[in-house]
Amino acid sequence: IDPTLDLVAEIDRLRKERNAVILAHYYQEGEIQDLADFVGDSLDLSRKAAATDADVIVFCGVRFMGEVAKILSPSKLVVIPDAEAGCSLEESCRAEPFRAFREKHPDHIAVTYINCSAEVKAASDVIVTSSNAEAIIRQLPADRPILFAPDRHLGAYMQKKTGREMTLWPGSCIIHEQFSEKELVKLKVRHPKALVAAHPECPDGILNHADHVGSTRNILDFVLNSPAKEFIIATEQHIIHQMSKAAPEKTFIPAPGADGGCSCSNCPFMARNTLEKIYLCLKNDAPAITVPEELRLAALKPLERMLEMST
Ligand code: 13P
Repeated sequence: IDPTLDLVAEIDRLRKERNAVILAHYYQEGEIQDLADFVGDSLDLSRKAAATDADVIVFCGVRFMGEVAKILSPSKLVVIPDAEAGCSLEESCRAEPFRAFREKHPDHIAVTYINCSAEVKAASDVIVTSSNAEAIIRQLPADRPILFAPDRHLGAYMQKKTGREMTLWPGSCIIHEQFSEKELVKLKVRHPKALVAAHPECPDGILNHADHVGSTRNILDFVLNSPAKEFIIATEQHIIHQMSKAAPEKTFIPAPGADGGCSCSNCPFMARNTLEKIYLCLKNDAPAITVPEELRLAALKPLERMLEMST
């Protein structure tokens, strides 16, 4: 790429030329969030992808999110800036052992977090995100136990909230797993007025100190509507970009890891996406997401069920 190229202007030109929509998750770099047509959490982004009339969807997030967009909008070209942008939760739950796990628990309803592959979705009864998991679980027949995969922390939190009997898949997110309870308590002592907002992918030890638990969008709404002036944010730290933009007078402190610093809350997969790669994927129509039709239809069913069951 010509180093003098104005990437933002070129992306803008290509977006118009291709009738493309750029969707970005809150965990993307601020400069990517700022050029996106829509920034959201996993549920809002799925809804946008399902409803768009653009010809091309550029999905700035991680690969499974682009895959969800393709499953919901098969006639669109879905491109992602970096094909290697994976997800530790997806990695923790391979299709073969997941199917075996299901076979071992035939009476269970398989409720699966959206952070998984199309193959695992296809073997699930209903998909959830962190913003609709509780509402969906509450709609499921009360006499059936639940198999929750792949995030054991979100699963345990749901178990606690709903009182439902659940068998949990032993997966977790490498980012949320690294927050340190000890360092969080020390930080709270130094900032006694700060409220803690945490994502439910955090372990119990972190959630126990939270004043508010919710999805990325839900945490954002909480900090913007709260009269408090200072917040400790226990999720991937790029969400703070939107918080600071919308409430520059408030202070947002990323939750600490074991070293007391916040480098642990940078998702290395999300960070693979750059302006240069966004420009290139729009220019080259690649990397494009493809999902074999039989697999797509099987994965679509529990995803559509999720959209129907979400308010
Ligand atoms: P939400 O977007 O539902 O808050 O979940 C965050 C996440 O895990 C993205 O990978």
